[in-house]
Amino acid sequence: MARLKTIDWQNDCVKLIDQTLLPNEIRYIDIVNAESMYEAIQVLRVRGAPAIGVAAAFGLYLGVRDFDGGAVGSFLDFVDDRVAYLASSRPTAINLFWALDRMKKFTHDQAESCTDIGIGTLKKRILDEAIRIFEEDKRMCRAIGEHGFELIKDKECILTHCNAGGLATSELGTALAPIYVGQERGVKFRVFADETRPLLQGARITALELSEAGIPVTVICDNMAASVMASGQIKACIVGADRIAANGDTANKIGTYGAAISAAYHKIPFYVAAPSSTFDLKIKSGADIPIEMRGREEVALLGGVKKSVPDKAEVFNPSFDVTPAELIAAIITEKGVIYPPYTENIVKII
Ligand code: MRU
Repeated sequence: MARLKTIDWQNDCVKLIDQTLLPNEIRYIDIVNAESMYEAIQVLRVRGAPAIGVAAAFGLYLGVRDFDGGAVGSFLDFVDDRVAYLASSRPTAINLFWALDRMKKFTHDQAESCTDIGIGTLKKRILDEAIRIFEEDKRMCRAIGEHGFELIKDKECILTHCNAGGLATSELGTALAPIYVGQERGVKFRVFADETRPLLQGARITALELSEAGIPVTVICDNMAASVMASGQIKACIVGADRIAANGDTANKIGTYGAAISAAYHKIPFYVAAPSSTFDLKIKSGADIPIEMRGREEVALLGGVKKSVPDKAEVFNPSFDVTPAELIAAIITEKGVIYPPYTENIVKII
């Protein structure tokens, strides 16, 4: 099967693979306005930090393309309003805010640098900028794949958590990109995918894309990772990121921190792969990264239907955790690999 397309711009609308249905059904949905893009991001039809950024950039265009309210000034106010709306869809992945800030600044700059610009031209340029973000995202994945491959080429068995593959970005992914690059070069990897409770991105999505690509993948429950590491099979761990603070502390899917602690205990290198748009240099440490809290039903209902927690018990469902920088062997970015000390080295590269 050809690689699944996460997101595309076709026939004047965004086509998204509905990731809530995977792996049972591969269904593409048309997103035609900002409201349906907001919903798609919030319920994880589109997910993964870079893909959310691309989706939001297109969402802004969809949100403003029918604007019919007169002067450029009121159009710019409307752009700001749609940016704020889309930015409230999810709180942790900085790529969402990065993409929307870039779109907003671009639109204002275009309006300022060309005083007789019409709203029609501005709308067209907003779409062009969203397409540029989409294309840059594909190139970013390739570059991370190349840099990451150099780090893991002799480590034939890799553990990953959640999904930071093609389905979390516009093309190859971040954490999985080095594995795809290896495959192109005839280097064989096998992968252990943590299932990633509660929404099972590892089991449903990582295992789907790797197995469809012909890369051997074994799904384990999250609580099996430490014992698989102890068995000596895992030679490296690679995960993605939703936000990286200036000191290298990294927010990623809940459970990443536990995997990093286990890897440190077993002396297995733990790598983070993420684009420069995932760094938040305004935030000094992971303590300041906002962590999304999600609903009870994700934990308390198996598969969204079968009760697995009694009604009187409470549920705690943070969607992300923060892995301290000291547990991370290196951060693989499209600009190169960053090693500790991160506070010094991140600013040099990003
Ligand atoms: O809640 P999700 O599925 O959007 O969480 C995704 C992750 O945590 C990924 O590891 C991260 O966004 C990096 S994707 C390249």
